[in-house]
Amino acid sequence: MVRLIDFEHIEQDALKRNIPIMQKEGILFLISQLIEMKATSCLEIGSAIGYSSMMMVTHVDDLKVDTIELNEERYQEAVSNIHKYHLDSQISIFLDDALTFDTAKLHHDPYDCLFIDAAKAQYQKFFEKYVPFVKQNGIIIVDNLDFHGMIFDIDHIKNRNTKQLVKKIKRFKDWIFNHEDYDVDYYPIGDGICVIRRKD
Ligand SMILES: C[S@@+](CC[C@H](N)C(=O)[O-])C[C@H]1O[C@@H](n2cnc3c(N)ncnc32)[C@H](O)[C@@H]1O
Repeated sequence: MVRLIDFEHIEQDALKRNIPIMQKEGILFLISQLIEMKATSCLEIGSAIGYSSMMMVTHVDDLKVDTIELNEERYQEAVSNIHKYHLDSQISIFLDDALTFDTAKLHHDPYDCLFIDAAKAQYQKFFEKYVPFVKQNGIIIVDNLDFHGMIFDIDHIKNRNTKQLVKKIKRFKDWIFNHEDYDVDYYPIGDGICVIRRKD
């Protein structure tokens, strides 16, 4: 049985402290995808303080989430949030760099869903490392693909680092949209979300 908690205070507090968490419409979209496919497992790259993983397991029946976070302070806060809401049996959180993480530690593979929500410049690397752990008919969801609309107007970005980052996101977007093994559906929700599926 799901317990519908919306963690409004965690969301507001994260926004106040500039902790990047998924926008509300984005997380509700992700939840709707998980419900539609009757998902029972999800692997998340980028836990931050646990907001999205807690939203997922409290809105989707019988869902288990494995999630990886690099930043120790955020990881500790996520552990404490997950514990406070008694969600420890549904969420396993790992403190590690997802790019070097030992995948033998994963609890619930193969997954119905892989949700990539960590360092945007590394999306392709995350995708290539973790896609083998997704079920044949599973989905891969990637957030923030529009980068506040900047991806549509790269030439006008003044800040050099931002420009580099947006170029990398665009490179990933072009790569996945043109990949012969995957179908991609794009949704202009939140900051741009893609749902990726293997071709039959
Ligand atoms: C956008 S936030 C995640 C938000 C979270 N999914 C939510 O909506 O509540 C991205 C997180 O990815 C983490 N991160 C960045 N690079 C990472 C890596 N290589 N491995 C694991 N986590 C990483 C960051 O520390 C940050 O907390």
